[in-house]
Amino acid sequence: MTAEPRPMPSVFSGLSSKLIATIIGVILLVEVVVFLPSIANFRASWLDDRLRVGVVAARVLDAVPDVMALPRNLTDRLLNSAGADAIVYRREGQSQLIELADAKTPANVVTADMRQRDMLTLIMGAGNTLLGAGDRTLRIVGQGDADQSMVELLMPEGPLKRDLFDYSRDFFIISLIIASLTAVVLYVLFSVLFINPIRRLTENMIGYRQAPENATLIIAPSQRRDEIGIAERELAAMETDLFSMLRQRRHLADLGLAVAKINHDLRNTLTSAQLLSDQVATLDDPKVQRLAPRLVTTLDKAIGFAQSVLDYGRESAALPQPEPVNLKALLDDAAFDAGLAGHPSIAFSNDASADLMLNIDAGQFGRVFLNLLKNAREAMEAAGSKIAAPAVAVNVTSTAEGVTVAVSDNGPGLPPRARDNLFVAFDGSARAGGTGLGLAIARELTEAHGGKLRFVDRPLGARFELSLPASMRIS
Ligand SMILES: Nc1ncnc2c1ncn2[C@@H]1O[C@H](COP(=O)(O)OP(=O)(O)OP(=O)(O)O)[C@@H](O)[C@H]1O
Ligand SMILES: [Mg+2]
Repeated sequence: MTAEPRPMPSVFSGLSSKLIATIIGVILLVEVVVFLPSIANFRASWLDDRLRVGVVAARVLDAVPDVMALPRNLTDRLLNSAGADAIVYRREGQSQLIELADAKTPANVVTADMRQRDMLTLIMGAGNTLLGAGDRTLRIVGQGDADQSMVELLMPEGPLKRDLFDYSRDFFIISLIIASLTAVVLYVLFSVLFINPIRRLTENMIGYRQAPENATLIIAPSQRRDEIGIAERELAAMETDLFSMLRQRRHLADLGLAVAKINHDLRNTLTSAQLLSDQVATLDDPKVQRLAPRLVTTLDKAIGFAQSVLDYGRESAALPQPEPVNLKALLDDAAFDAGLAGHPSIAFSNDASADLMLNIDAGQFGRVFLNLLKNAREAMEAAGSKIAAPAVAVNVTSTAEGVTVAVSDNGPGLPPRARDNLFVAFDGSARAGGTGLGLAIARELTEAHGGKLRFVDRPLGARFELSLPASMRIS
């Protein structure tokens, strides 16, 4: 367990605070969207009420031949019932006016033309009333009850402004109550349904990662059928797998350590035996001379085996260290190490482009190619003169999808025994003296780079194809 496990998120970065902020934000937005048309409508019906009285008054005026002759207290009552300082009635170019006895000349007049009733104008009018100075005179203009007639009322804007302000305040108090109630209900619902289960998942992951060998920390999945339920079950399965894998790995590691120790001692003992056998080989006895070389090769093989098992154990943990590598040069070096370059009977060819650069671990890929080329050489040499013109070819193709390196030979092909356990460590060998590690290591190293190594069956010889993702290519 390398990195420190991250703690749970703080109050401000957690899901709950994001949820509360989102709920409040959305409700406020909705309130604003609802508020604007509401105050516009409130103001419009307030003005309509006044206009209606104005229209009745106008009808009276219209019926009277001489307005000036009307008794003062009657006109004042009419005006008071509409809350107006003055009423003007216009029809066919003529206008009639009644006004309060003590009417002052209106200053700072703002007009509300109720013949324009589109929402935007109404909203802007309401905004103007709410935000404007309180001492203005309001001129309400509306349609009279006859065609081509018009009624105008003059009154102080103060009462409208007050009513509108009271309405807005009530609106905000009620929406605040609704918003808080909605936020609380939504928060509780979301917490119970989503946030708490997600927190449980998160806490379990953090806790389990700290002690993956503790089976009691494996999450107990709920019966939910939704995505959270699936996540819980998948997590439980993953933790169970991890738990048994870790236990298995510990056992294997213990075993491996024991094998490595035995192997190490064995190799030392074999090396002493090799020294002895070298000395024996110098004896003149013809019988010894005949047996000694076989003894030496057998010991060589045993030491080689012990060495490669040790190497395998050491190698498995190394992470790739990618660096820019010239593929052609790397392949040529591997061919040299595999004993193919300058081989007396096997022809070797490498068609990789000289300027193809890859971002890979040179050491690890050198070993991959060495194993593939060595296998080909060993198979051809074992087949001996049965093959007419033995040849090993490396073909490199570089396309948009990626880079493919194919190592093919015209040798005997894979024996059935090798085919069954190909790429399986210690099991894949069908060759005397082979450990069966070469291909297993080659595949492991290729896959650690995100690549793939596969065997391609063909009638004559063997072909191994190694493909790497295009992202590994530098040029
Ligand atoms: N090019 C090839 N032609 C024929 N047989 C092959 C070829 N490559 C691999 N094989 C067969 O596959 C087997 C497994 O190869 P692998 O490299 O894994 O093990 P090995 O060569 O036997 O041992 P090691 O490489 O560990 O010394 C070989 O024993 C051989 O029988
Ligand atoms: Mg091999």
